[in-house]
Amino acid sequence: MTIDLPVLLDRSAAQPLSVQLAGQLRAAMRDGRMRAGERLPSSRALATITGVSRTVVTEAYQQLYAEGWLEGRHGSGTFVADMVTPSPTIFTTPDLGREDRRGGSGVSSAPVSPRQSSRPVGKIVGETIDLRPGMPWVAGLNTPAWRRAWRLAATVTPAARPDPHGLPELRGALTDYLRRSRGVACQEDGILITRGATNGLDLLAATMVRPGDRVGVEQPGYPAAAAVLGARGAEVVPCPVDENGLIVDALPEDLRILHTTPSHQYPIGGRLSAPRRQALVAWARRTGAIIAEDDYDGEFRYDVAPLPALYGLDPGVTVYLGTTSKIFAPDVGVGWLVARPDLVERIAARRRTLSDRTAVVPQAAMRIMLERGDLDRHIRRMRAEYARRRAAVVAALGHLSLRGETAGIHVLVELPGDVTDRLVAEAETQGVLLVTVDPYYRTPPGTAPGGHRVTGLVIGYGGATVGQVRTGCSLVRRLVSELDR
Ligand SMILES: Cc1ncc(COP(=O)(O)O)c(C=O)c1O
Repeated sequence: MTIDLPVLLDRSAAQPLSVQLAGQLRAAMRDGRMRAGERLPSSRALATITGVSRTVVTEAYQQLYAEGWLEGRHGSGTFVADMVTPSPTIFTTPDLGREDRRGGSGVSSAPVSPRQSSRPVGKIVGETIDLRPGMPWVAGLNTPAWRRAWRLAATVTPAARPDPHGLPELRGALTDYLRRSRGVACQEDGILITRGATNGLDLLAATMVRPGDRVGVEQPGYPAAAAVLGARGAEVVPCPVDENGLIVDALPEDLRILHTTPSHQYPIGGRLSAPRRQALVAWARRTGAIIAEDDYDGEFRYDVAPLPALYGLDPGVTVYLGTTSKIFAPDVGVGWLVARPDLVERIAARRRTLSDRTAVVPQAAMRIMLERGDLDRHIRRMRAEYARRRAAVVAALGHLSLRGETAGIHVLVELPGDVTDRLVAEAETQGVLLVTVDPYYRTPPGTAPGGHRVTGLVIGYGGATVGQVRTGCSLVRRLVSELDR
């Protein structure tokens, strides 16, 4: 049944009509005047009722869709999503409805009965909910486009002597993708296909690092970056970050390579501010260091304008590392490294000596996905999926200090250290897996030379269903209020 909408739009107000409409619908869903599972009028019908253009309604619906308030199935309408925020003492069962069974494929979720969301249980039973970071939503992958790409890719003839640069056709397709999605301008000779961002960093280190060279990693930061750099004989130097990303003023002057995540600092979540970007490039020019820009999840952002990759500021001192691990799945094993052509040549030559390569079929499949526009469509679909999960996190935990919630597929929840440790242990007994920020530091607990040590949880929402995210975050919310007393 379609509901009557409580909407009154004011054409003389400064606020755009679509913003007014979205705001009033949001308020109605928040305070329960519109309930989960109820169907909204079609955009055409609502435009007629309210006397505005259909574009206004579509924009409002799209905004609410991205925030997770609405869900829809093509051809069958738009529904109020099951976004009820449970009270701290009553938390919900995981979605028992279609979403979990259908594997969450795409944005076409069916309406969920509002009754499902308010069933009180004391403890989560029967399933483990994994809210550890680093996992994308792979259940949404098995689409006709994906199967077609792999079928076609399987017809390629493998090379007897693989090119260490990777398939030229994929490199060509990537020049276009990187320019429009990440503002990275390069030619084919500036791209080398890798198995992922970490593999790209390893190849860079294998080419550039001499034993005893000092290399920088963010602190807290991505542990595998420090591991591969260390394994190539470098002395790994932790470099502090804050909510605006790397603290450039604190960088040493003698680093050979600096690994950094400027689009979405891992794991704290800040975006490197514009002045720091300029300062970072100036630092690299001055010191001769190479910036290894790890853009592991730059495609996912919410409610914020896209920020192009740092690479564009100075391709001479930056090596850009991209990956399909987050936009697709780590198991696909395709990524890319973009650098000055002379450096790409050196890396390719070194790679040949290491007999390191990317398998041809995944490369060909990725090229087909790119050329047919299927990768862009997949990313758009995943962006909407993740926006819904993120909205569920914010609905449950928005009253706490959240960081990095405008991008990627994880957020940081700042909490006192003692609360965090007890919370993780207690949540595990209830079937919810969480991690703290602590393992992302290289210095011992309680210390953070050059910066303030952040404590709290890193919540990954990529690998769980919206229902699981909601259930897990409701448990976190309840435990925080219990443990904080
Ligand atoms: C900062 C960062 N870089 C890179 C990766 C993984 O990239 P890849 O699988 O392409 O090596 C991750 C995965 O969690 C990550 O967090």
